[in-house]
Amino acid sequence: MSTVLENIIKRASEKNKCVVLPEGEDSRVVKAAAEIVKQKISRVVLLGDPTEIAKANPDVNLEGVIVIDPKTDVNNKKYAEILYKSREGKINKKTGLPEYANVDEALAGALKDYTMYGALMLKAGDVDGLVSGACHSTANTLRPGLQVIKTAPGINTVSSCFVMVAPDENKYCPDGVAVFADCAINIEPSAEQLADIAISSAETAKSIAGIEPRVAMLSFSTMGSGNDDKFFKSVPKVQEATKIAKEKAPELTVDGEFQFDAAVAPEVGKLKAPESKVAGNANVFVFPNINAGNIGYKIAQRFGKFLALGPVCQGFAKPINDLSRGCSVEDVVAVVAITALQA
Ligand SMILES: CC(C)(COP(=O)(O)OP(=O)(O)OC[C@H]1O[C@@H](n2cnc3c(N)ncnc32)[C@H](O)[C@@H]1OP(=O)(O)O)[C@@H](O)C(=O)NCCC(=O)NCCS
Repeated sequence: MSTVLENIIKRASEKNKCVVLPEGEDSRVVKAAAEIVKQKISRVVLLGDPTEIAKANPDVNLEGVIVIDPKTDVNNKKYAEILYKSREGKINKKTGLPEYANVDEALAGALKDYTMYGALMLKAGDVDGLVSGACHSTANTLRPGLQVIKTAPGINTVSSCFVMVAPDENKYCPDGVAVFADCAINIEPSAEQLADIAISSAETAKSIAGIEPRVAMLSFSTMGSGNDDKFFKSVPKVQEATKIAKEKAPELTVDGEFQFDAAVAPEVGKLKAPESKVAGNANVFVFPNINAGNIGYKIAQRFGKFLALGPVCQGFAKPINDLSRGCSVEDVVAVVAITALQA
């Protein structure tokens, strides 16, 4: 296990938070729940029918794991009311009708979608974080959170990042760890959204990666060296995003627009952006769109042998994280530790 991850787990354990895992039907999640409680990383609420879970996982000792069956949960009406109130006036895009006409419909909706049920527990303050996605798509995992948890104060965009751990000493990654964003949620972010991604990624760099953030807004251009006016106008967008991020978070060390080498290599940074505090020295990288971000982190992972922890969701008012459907038990444990740290 990387020392960064060991450190995340250790810091999470000190917080004694409670994380809800809505996917009691997935054996990896059930095994992870037992492991998390055994290692005292956080308290865990697992959603599902306790008899079914025990039957499907006879070898797993669930002592200490709180198993709640939403169907018989004494609090389910309370959560239905929260759902109804949070979504009052919202129209279902497919049917053109209100999402929930009354509290009974909201209850039926929450009982059909345990990720939503978990999100309502989180909204009510009965748990501190939510981790799902072992057997649900990213969209189905994030939508309940987007609908009822919403964004943190001052942030309008939920985004994601990867915490990238360097395999060994690396001249361009002196902290041993960096943050790449957004590689998984926002497909073509606007300038305002890129600014939010920068601010949230800096927060994740501090709280999860444990580093002091120096944020580079990435492009194929450095400080106006290139432009794409005839195509996507992405250079002015990144320039505008940099300006917005500086205005919204004046305390943040953020600059751009930079090519990747100008952001990480001191010799290139000095040459191309001599006035910048971030050039040649960045440890948080905001990519101009999901194509660049997703391809970028995978190049670092495969060619550069960096360990990619994530995606870590950021910008929610309360922490929610999405597992990959190919996740292992260890991955679930790691994501729960990250979520507990965000709480
Ligand atoms: C994040 C995502 C799942 C949202 O999809 P969606 O549910 O169809 O989103 P909608 O546009 O219907 O919006 C639902 C609600 O979430 C809000 N929302 C959507 N994206 C948001 C974001 N990034 N930040 C904050 N709020 C957001 C909307 O404002 C809307 O709120 P409302 O219903 O209260 O008005 C979608 O952007 C997505 O699929 N992204 C790519 C994910 C992906 O495939 N990743 C691959 C992994 S590499």
